[in-house]
Amino acid sequence: MPSVAIQPTFEAWQAAARLLLAEGASPDTVEWREAADAATPAAALPGGARVPRQFLDVARQAAGASDPTRWAVLYTVLWRLVHESRELLADTRDPDVRRLNGLAAQGRRETQQAEMQAVLALEQAGGGAAPFVPKGAGLDDLRAAGARCEGCDLFRRATQMVFGRGPADARVVLVGEQPGDQEDLKGAPFVGPAGEVLDRALAEVGLDRRQVYVTNAVKHFSFVERGKRRIHQTPRLPEIAACRPWLEAELDVIKPAILGCLGATAARAILGPDFRLLRQHGQFFATRWSPKTIATLHPSAVLRGQDDAEQARLYAMLRDDLRVIATAA
Ligand code: URA
Ligand code: SF4
Repeated sequence: MPSVAIQPTFEAWQAAARLLLAEGASPDTVEWREAADAATPAAALPGGARVPRQFLDVARQAAGASDPTRWAVLYTVLWRLVHESRELLADTRDPDVRRLNGLAAQGRRETQQAEMQAVLALEQAGGGAAPFVPKGAGLDDLRAAGARCEGCDLFRRATQMVFGRGPADARVVLVGEQPGDQEDLKGAPFVGPAGEVLDRALAEVGLDRRQVYVTNAVKHFSFVERGKRRIHQTPRLPEIAACRPWLEAELDVIKPAILGCLGATAARAILGPDFRLLRQHGQFFATRWSPKTIATLHPSAVLRGQDDAEQARLYAMLRDDLRVIATAA
């Protein structure tokens, strides 16, 4: 039986699973082992099997559980999705699907606990970006100081800190999640594919991007390498907490009339962990940063829509919420 050693991360499992799938290795012939020093296989062949996005989401959560059998469960479900039915996850009474869902729930719980502990440890140690943020500084001095931030580990691998961009007297501030690959290279927010979607929607509702201040909740790019590509990784709570002093300093300077959160990460950072984007988008709430704080979809979510119809629906949601901002501005 082939024994596959992987580092205990979702990305390492995914890379190994793709290779096994391409080789046609059925789940009952594979034994998974965890090894901290295992090599992650290089990029799997492009054009590999497409699996439903829902599986990737649930699998990522399950990978966060401490149960050592999770890798085998993940591979079994992946195999069955590809060889049996793409609709397998809808069968919630299927024993493999139940185990997967149970592991995902455990993973969510454990990840949340670990993140809370990391945030508390950060606060107790006086860590994060706070020591790097000059008190009472304007945007130019903040940006210059940002280049030296070592408030979390993200600065080590990214090209540069991507500070917000726009006028200090902007009435509208938009907060995204974190720079992507293009932003990391160019040093400005929303200048890649997500930025194109944002620009199009802003233009459609008559908001001039040059008059809007655009920034991110986390200011260094975070990624995993897959072959030559750098795949964006959603920032974790400790990184959001570490980077928060920069965002607060920007908002203190600008004092926006309207503060728009693009996506769940920014919404959680500003409107709190209980905020539910799909239910509460497009409505104003008062926060300590702006009497009119509002959240909408992240432009990248539009690009991730499964087909043209889905993308059009998501785009309309983003645009209509931005129109609420434009009208109030
Ligand atoms: N996604 C973001 O959240 N921010 C950017 O700047 C680019 C992509
Ligand atoms: Fe500092 Fe934020 Fe970069 Fe972390 S992500 S190093 S806190 S600027």
